[in-house]
Amino acid sequence: MTDQTELHGVYGAPPREVAEAPAGATQFSPLVPGAGNLEDLAEGALASLTLLAPPGTVERRYAVALGLKALAPGGRLTIAAPKDKGGSRLKKELEAFGCLVNEDSRRHHRICVVRRPEAPTGLDDAIAEGAPRFVEAVDGWTQPGVFSWDRIDPGSALLAKTLPPMAGKGADFGCGVGVLAKAVLAAPKVESLLLIDLDRRAIEAARRNIEDPRASFAWTDVRSAGIEPGSLDFVVMNPPFHDGGTEDKQLGQTFIRQAANTLRRSGTLWLVANRHLPYERVLAEVFKVVTPRVDTGGYKIFEARR
Ligand SMILES: C[S@@+](CC[C@H](N)C(=O)[O-])C[C@H]1O[C@@H](n2cnc3c(N)ncnc32)[C@H](O)[C@@H]1O
Repeated sequence: MTDQTELHGVYGAPPREVAEAPAGATQFSPLVPGAGNLEDLAEGALASLTLLAPPGTVERRYAVALGLKALAPGGRLTIAAPKDKGGSRLKKELEAFGCLVNEDSRRHHRICVVRRPEAPTGLDDAIAEGAPRFVEAVDGWTQPGVFSWDRIDPGSALLAKTLPPMAGKGADFGCGVGVLAKAVLAAPKVESLLLIDLDRRAIEAARRNIEDPRASFAWTDVRSAGIEPGSLDFVVMNPPFHDGGTEDKQLGQTFIRQAANTLRRSGTLWLVANRHLPYERVLAEVFKVVTPRVDTGGYKIFEARR
C-alpha cells in the first residue's frame, strides 16, 4: 500500500491539441509567477512531465535535463516544440541524454515522448551549462533564457546613460537582471524602486545584482502587479514586445497604460523602445506631455509626464 500522491508536472502551456498535460499537473515554467521550480525537486519526484520546450538550445537542454533528473525511472516525458523553434532538434537532443525517442508531428510541432532511462547521460553538463552565472559583459548575474542574457541590450544601455537622476518612489517594469535599476539607484534621491519581472530567473538574478535597501523585487505580471494607482513618482522601462515568442505590440502598450495608471500627477515615465514599435499614440493618449528625447541606432527614448 502507498499513500504517495503522484506528482505530474507541466512546463509552459503546450497547445492542447499538441500535447495535453494530466489534469491538476503542477506548473514549473519560470515564466509563470508562482510556479514550482524544477531545480528544487528531489530526484525521482515526478511521475510525468509535459513540456513546451523553450526555443533557446541551452535553456531547452537545461529544462529537459532537470526534468529527466526529477522524473522517476520509467516516468514519462512529453516534449513539444514548434518545428522552427527547436522542434527539429528535439529527438537528437533527447537521444544524447540516452533516451529512446518516439517522435510525432502535429500542428507545426514536433512532439517527442520518452521514458526516463535508468541511467540518463550528460544531465549534469546540460544543467551546468544552463545554470545562473556571473557574466562580465552584463556586469552581473544572469542565466540563459533571460532577456539579452549574455550582453547588455543596446536599448537599455542607451536609456541607462540618458536617464537624468530620478527622485522619490519608482518602479522598473520588466526589470530583467536589473540593468536599468542599477542606473536608477545611482541617484541618491531615489527613495524606493520596485523591480518587476515575469521571469523568475530574471528576478533571482536582479536580487543578486542589486544589493540596495531601497530596492524590492516582485516575480509577477506587470498587468496585474497591484501597484496602488497614482502612487509612483517615476517608472522606467524597456517594455517587452514578445509574448510566448511572437511579437506582441499590445504588451508594450499595456505596460505604458499601466505606468500612467500607477504614476501620480506630474510623475514621469522614461521608456526606450525599438524604433519600429508603435507607442506614440498610446503615450499621447494617457500622458499629458510626451517628449522624444533620443532617436539613434534604431532606438527611441521618450520622457512622458502624467
Ligand atoms: C525588453 S526586456 C527588458 C529587460 C531589462 N529591463 C533590461 O533593460 O535589460 C523586457 C522584460 O520584460 C519581462 N516581461 C515580459 N512580459 C512581462 C509581463 N507581462 N510582466 C512583467 N514582466 C514582463 C521580460 O521577462 C523581460 O525581462
